[in-house]
Amino acid sequence: FSEFLTDTFGREHDYLRISISERCNLRCIYCMPEEGVELSPSADLLTKDEILKIAKLFVSQGVRKIRLTGGEPSVRKDFIDIVKGLGEIPGLEEIAITSNGIALGRKIPLLKQYGVTSLNLSLDTLVEGKFMIMTRRAGLSKVLNTLDQALRQGIPKVKLNVVVMKGVNDDEILDFVRIAKEKPVEVRFIEYMPFSGNKWSTEKMVSYHDMLSLIHSQYPSLTQVAASRGDTAKIFTDPRGHFAGKVGFITSMTSHFCGSCNRLRITSDGNLKVCLFGNTEVSLRDMVRKGASDHELLEIIGSAVKNKKAKHAGIGELEKMENRPMILIGGLV
Ligand code: GTP
Ligand code: 5AD
Ligand code: SF4
Repeated sequence: FSEFLTDTFGREHDYLRISISERCNLRCIYCMPEEGVELSPSADLLTKDEILKIAKLFVSQGVRKIRLTGGEPSVRKDFIDIVKGLGEIPGLEEIAITSNGIALGRKIPLLKQYGVTSLNLSLDTLVEGKFMIMTRRAGLSKVLNTLDQALRQGIPKVKLNVVVMKGVNDDEILDFVRIAKEKPVEVRFIEYMPFSGNKWSTEKMVSYHDMLSLIHSQYPSLTQVAASRGDTAKIFTDPRGHFAGKVGFITSMTSHFCGSCNRLRITSDGNLKVCLFGNTEVSLRDMVRKGASDHELLEIIGSAVKNKKAKHAGIGELEKMENRPMILIGGLV
């Protein structure tokens, strides 16, 4: 495996997350501050060709999976062209997208055609009124339609991301488990994480432990299974086959999974970020625009990767730390 993508703890980074937009058609309360975020001038964002150039360079070093994130990736006009471009990179095995699903329904057949293997849809509530509160916009039925389209068109892996906030949507946990029971979807409950401007506090978070106790009280048969390499989620299935899908938990706050991290991130303004919670970034965009060679780029990438820490700072420190708001990392990245 490439020396440039291996860190000092021996972690091999074969999964790249590229944020392709800072904009979003929703305003989720846990992601964006009420007043919104200041967007970078569009000249600062990576162009489609720059994205594909960087993607190819990483694939040449052993990256096998690329996930497009945002903001909301589908708000970008050349979103489909970027997906198509990724589909043409030899050696790239998985093309994944994380989206809120609002504007994706009609695009699913094209995504399937260009080789998308995995779609993670963000959906935190099944109640329209609450959708308006959590996302500050309307659109629940559009997301549900996208989910159905993705399943009907046969996108291989479909997951639902549910960020659980105490007193907001924690009363819907069992309703979401029912979706996993009925549809071939992995429903993942996410511990609410702190980012600049999202007013995080431990009281607003529902822990993995509490979510699992509630779910086990209703579905005692759900059993944890081994996750695949680099998976963020602890995954549960019904061994009797009574569930069409799976239930997962992303426990970033109460039990980190940094030891098996295989991810690197590119922000939409072209910075390499070696950890979701790290605030050191290096601009690949500036180097590409200066005409740097692949080798020069790899040297910079390699030294950033070598500076990656063993694990994130822990709840207490993260709360105090300056980081980008989630929308500008891309979840998201
Ligand atoms: P796959 O494993 O490829 O399905 O994707 P994912 O679960 O990593 O990504 P997704 O974009 O669906 O994000 C789901 C949740 O996981 C979000 O809350 C992300 O912020 C969180 N997440 C993604 N990557 C990381 C990471 O490297 N570290 C931590 N702590 N959380 C992450
Ligand atoms: N904590 C946990 N998950 C978050 N996401 C966005 N902000 C947060 C947060 N503060 C999730 C979104 C999306 C995924 C990419 O990141 O729900 O599904
Ligand atoms: Fe948009 Fe996703 Fe952030 Fe919600 S969580 S505002 S859908 S980027």
